[in-house]
This record gives sequence, structure tokens and C-alpha cells, in this order.
Amino acid sequence: MSISIFGIILKFVIVEGILIHFLKLHLKQYLKKKFPSLIILKKMIDNQFKISSVIGQGGSAKVFLGQDVSENKYAIKVIANKQNFSKNAAKAVLNHEFDILQQVSDHPNIIKPLFEPTEGSVRVGNKTEGINYNVLEFAENGAISEFVRKCGHFEEELVPLFMAQICHAVNHIHSKGVAHLDLKLENILLDSMFNIKVCDFGSALNVADQKGSVSKQRGTTVYMAPEVASFKSGDSYNGFAADVYSLGVSLFLMLVGEFPTSVIGQGSVDTIDTECKEQELEYQLESSVTQQRRDLLSEGAKDLINQMTQADFTKRPSLEQVLAHPWIQSGMNSEILPLVYDEMTSRKEHMTSF
Ligand SMILES: Nc1ncnc2c1ncn2[C@@H]1O[C@H](COP(=O)(O)OP(=O)(O)O)[C@@H](O)[C@H]1O
Ligand SMILES: [Mg+2]
Repeated sequence: MSISIFGIILKFVIVEGILIHFLKLHLKQYLKKKFPSLIILKKMIDNQFKISSVIGQGGSAKVFLGQDVSENKYAIKVIANKQNFSKNAAKAVLNHEFDILQQVSDHPNIIKPLFEPTEGSVRVGNKTEGINYNVLEFAENGAISEFVRKCGHFEEELVPLFMAQICHAVNHIHSKGVAHLDLKLENILLDSMFNIKVCDFGSALNVADQKGSVSKQRGTTVYMAPEVASFKSGDSYNGFAADVYSLGVSLFLMLVGEFPTSVIGQGSVDTIDTECKEQELEYQLESSVTQQRRDLLSEGAKDLINQMTQADFTKRPSLEQVLAHPWIQSGMNSEILPLVYDEMTSRKEHMTSF
């Protein structure tokens, strides 16, 4: 009798222990996934940067907010040696990005690299792990995609200023012979005053010697021009025109809040849907609501989107032509700066309150 009670108690203790351990593990994983910025990692990189939160994650890198002893803030882009990348591949990616940034970052709307790429170590408690990282200027308000995802499309009057700053930055990049090749709202950041900062030059190539011609498929499917999406080995396409197309898709997203299936040149709706989920883009595809929203856009906005996303790349406008478009020109006036600041500040408050 006493044995069986003891047995029951023992079983109960074991089962309860396992259950608590299981719940703890899942709670930790859930919190990490849902609220990455709230998890204090207690990490230290090379005894130089205190890491307080994860500020972003892309296809290859994790980006942390780092602070030095004087509390200056930096974005630290890390490719851990042990992930999909070998140590040398991680180094090569970061060196390549740094090399391109050195060529193009002398522009106010492009993220600046602050130190040479570094091979160092991160200390978490007693453990030390090897990492490769780049230290970048920190864009306080993060990726513009977050604002669209969490609060929906922007009012039309806000967008010409964003678009003009983005086009000035990308035009500057192109003038140096560099094609970005992965332009998307996830790679377009906002600083503390909501000015644009273009980032992520991991896919960029200097194609000056090839007159813009690119012979590798680069980019993110849902933003790709049709000639890039249908790329086969041996093909080539114009990298500058491909960038203009991706910016046309980005413009549509800012104005409508969902992906433009009708101007996306590749794949079926299912492919695009899967791609959005896999890449955690979390936008929806065009719905009837989007179609209504699209119909409500001004003729100028529609015209610019249609021009930038033409299937025939030779007919797409240059970025100088985009900047001279009447919809951009008439949207730039003295009231626009405070309006953008106020609207974006209230969006930010709304985003952080839920
Ligand atoms: N300088 C920065 N300031 C603030 N956030 C950044 C900065 N750089 C990157 N991020 C955030 O981290 C994410 C991933 O960085 P990114 O350079 O795009 O990496 P990947 O090459 O893996 O796509 C970005 O989408 C953005 O949200
Ligand atoms: Mg990126």
C-alpha cells in the first residue's frame, strides 16, 4: 500500500518535473520568437559592445543593438560561424558588404559602415562563441516594412517624400556603378527623424564594367522583375532596371499594404503566397480590399507604379525620371516634413502599444 502511494508520488514528481521543464522551454522559445527585442541577452561582443536586443533578422544575418561604454548605439550585423555559413563564407559575405558600402555610403540616405569587418567572439555568461560581424550606423526606427505590416499602408501624401529619398539614394548607388539587387521594404530603414536609410548590400554588385549587366539571379522572389524571376544559367539582365522594378513593387506596398499579384511577373499566386510565408514577409496577397484601395490611388501614383513595373525593362524609367515624375514633384512641399514626422511618430506609438 505504502509502496504504491510512494510510486504514485514519485510518478507525479517526475511527470510534473518533465511538464514544467517542457513548459519553460516552450515559453522561452515562444517569447524569443514573439518578442525578440524584449529578451535581454546579456551578451558582450569582444568586451566592447553590450548587446541589449535583436533589432532584425534577414536571410543571412541577425542584427543586434550594441552599445559601447559611452552608451553610443550601433547596429551589429552578425553571421554566426556555425549557422548555414562556414567561417570563411560568413567572412566573405561581410567583407563584400563592407566593400560595397565603402563605395556608396557617402550619401545621407545610405547606412554607413563604422568599423572594418571583425572576426571576434561573443560572450554569453561563461560561454564564448566565434562570430563575424559588421558594425553599422544604427537606424533607430528600423525597417519601413514593420510600419506597413503592423499599421497597414501609408496615406498617399506621405509616400512621395519617402520615395524621393529612396530614389536619391539608389540613384547615387547606380551612379557608382553598383546595382543593389535586393531592394525591398525590409532593406529600407528609417532613422530617428524618419529619414530613409537604405541597407543590406549583401547582394549588391559593382557592374560598371559590364554596363549594368548581371549574370546571377539575385533578390527576393516577390520583389523580382520578371526577367530576374525567369533567370536561367547563361542569361543576363540589367541590374539597374531590375532595381527600378523592385522599387515599383515597394512603392505599391507602401501605398496599398499588400503585394501586387497583377504586376508581379512570376509564378502563381500559390508560389508567391508560399514565398511570403517562408520568408516571414507576412504581407497578404491582393484581396478585394486591396483592389478597392488600388482603385482609390491617384492617377499619378498609378501611372508611376505602372511605369516602374513594366515587363519590358527597356521601357522602365531611370531613377532620375522617377524623381522628375509629377506625382513625386507635386508631393514635395514645405508641409510634408512635419506631416511625415507626426504621422510616423503616432504609428510608432501605436506599434509599441500592442
Ligand atoms: N543599421 C541598422 N539599423 C537598424 N536596423 C537594422 C540595421 N541593419 C539591419 N537592420 C535590421 O535587420 C534586418 C536584417 O538586416 P540585413 O542587413 O537586411 O540582413 P540580411 O542580409 O540577412 O537580410 C533588416 O531588415 C532590419 O530590420
Ligand atoms: Mg535584408
